Amino acid sequence: MQQAKAAEQQRRGGGGHLRQRLLGIASDLPVHKLQLAATPAAASLLPALAVAALLLLLAAARRAPASSFLDAYRSGVDIVSTPSTPPRGAAAAAAARVPRGCDIFRPGEWVPDDDAPYYTNLTCPLIQEHQNCMKYGRPDTGFLRWRWRPAGCELPRFDAAAFLDAVRDTSMAFVGDSLARNHMQSLMCLLSKVAYPKDISKTTHPEFRTMHYESHNFTVAIFWSPFLVRGYQPDPRRHMWDIHLDEPDAAWASGIAGFDRVVLSAANWFTRPAMFYESGRVVGCHYCLAPGVPDLTHRHSLRMAFRAALRVLVAGFNGTVIVRTLSPTSHFEGGAWDRGGDCRRTRPLTAGEVRMGGLDLDYHTAQVEEFARAKAEVEASGSGGRGPRLVLMDTTPAMVLRPDGHPSRYGHWAHENVTLYNDCVHWCLPGPIDAWNEMLLQMLLPDHPS
Ligand SMILES: *[C@@H]1O[C@H](CO)[C@@H](O)[C@H](O)[C@H]1NC(C)=O
Ligand SMILES: *[C@@H]1O[C@H](CO)[C@@H](O)[C@H](O)[C@H]1NC(C)=O
Ligand SMILES: *[C@@H]1O[C@H](CO)[C@@H](O)[C@H](O)[C@H]1NC(C)=O
Ligand SMILES: *[C@@H]1O[C@H](CO)[C@@H](O)[C@H](O)[C@H]1NC(C)=O
Repeated sequence: MQQAKAAEQQRRGGGGHLRQRLLGIASDLPVHKLQLAATPAAASLLPALAVAALLLLLAAARRAPASSFLDAYRSGVDIVSTPSTPPRGAAAAAAARVPRGCDIFRPGEWVPDDDAPYYTNLTCPLIQEHQNCMKYGRPDTGFLRWRWRPAGCELPRFDAAAFLDAVRDTSMAFVGDSLARNHMQSLMCLLSKVAYPKDISKTTHPEFRTMHYESHNFTVAIFWSPFLVRGYQPDPRRHMWDIHLDEPDAAWASGIAGFDRVVLSAANWFTRPAMFYESGRVVGCHYCLAPGVPDLTHRHSLRMAFRAALRVLVAGFNGTVIVRTLSPTSHFEGGAWDRGGDCRRTRPLTAGEVRMGGLDLDYHTAQVEEFARAKAEVEASGSGGRGPRLVLMDTTPAMVLRPDGHPSRYGHWAHENVTLYNDCVHWCLPGPIDAWNEMLLQMLLPDHPS
């Protein structure tokens, strides 16, 4: 009955869409978190899970809760059709750039910015529902009025014309989970000042979209791959994942040939209970409680997944690989994601108030180390300029300071008949994630020190 209604709403599009999506998603949500909580071993694990759970999760009322926040975001890129007449193109000017020697990532601070935001939900038609915080009633707008200032220099404002100029006749692939999509949608909103893309996807799969900016012959695509390596649920009722730590996920690995740039990211999905495989054999797990199987933890799987993904890129990719470090998992306050945790701050923290720690620090360390390892491999191979150019996009330090930038409970209508978890994982659009593209633009300019 509910399903029929949901299907009907989907056919009609419009207002019932989100509700329909929530219902549809809720039906395949695992419940392991609650089970874990019942055991002593799980208790020690809870803080990590909570964080990890990073992901929020929306579950239909009275249904089993989901195992992870991100489950709710498995579908729904929701790229709406855009007007066929592009906005008035701005003239390309030489992009402002940071002075040599300035680290745009750290240290730094968020400073007031009266010119923000770059766009609104009225000027950008590409904002995904869950991140359209203003639409869903977020009352405060102060969180929009900050910009990232690296210590020692100014990070130039995003310049859509300069960005499109820098990527003319090239292609860029985002690979990862719903935060990769969040990043790409921010980029498309920022670019909407100059041009709208056309959806040229070869598939109808909402998680694999390819968008083309005709005016600049720039192609941008998103590949869904939350573990970067092959990962799947052998039995969706069991809430366990099988993760093949040494097998890069074909969903992206076979699709990125020919792309000029790949933005690689992942983190939040690794917290799920999982069996780890190498060469097709079980080598360990994360919270499987299986006798004789060593619990290597999700810190291990995240590290090995990055290693495998980077290895295949070093061996067979000629473009630029941009490794984006994790978006913080630590912004739930007052409880875990599924225990009433929320993020209700309305302004950034200062570096004196918070430091990267816990799971964020562990994941970040693994990502930075695996990046360095891959870079050393490229250099050691002496392949005479072949192999990818590897660049680290270290967004974590800045974002740790922005617990105020998440949808919280404004990722959907408050009156919806769903059990609602607060989203302290994704970023409102517009919002602090727009700074990622200010950083990305700097990284695209010639002579960016990598
Ligand atoms: C945009 O946000 C406003 C509130 O600021 C809201 O009333 C409106 O419905 C939203 N529009 C769209 C298209 O999301
Ligand atoms: C458009 O860009 C692609 C790379 O993304 C390039 O291969 C192709 O030659 C370009 N087309 C034109 C007409 O320049
Ligand atoms: C990378 O470039 C080299 C030489 O320029 C070429 O032989 C090789 O086929 C390219 N590999 C890929 C995956 O494009
Ligand atoms: C929520 O559910 C109740 C009981 O099923 C129903 O009466 C009410 O109309 C629903 N509200 C919305 C907004 O769908």
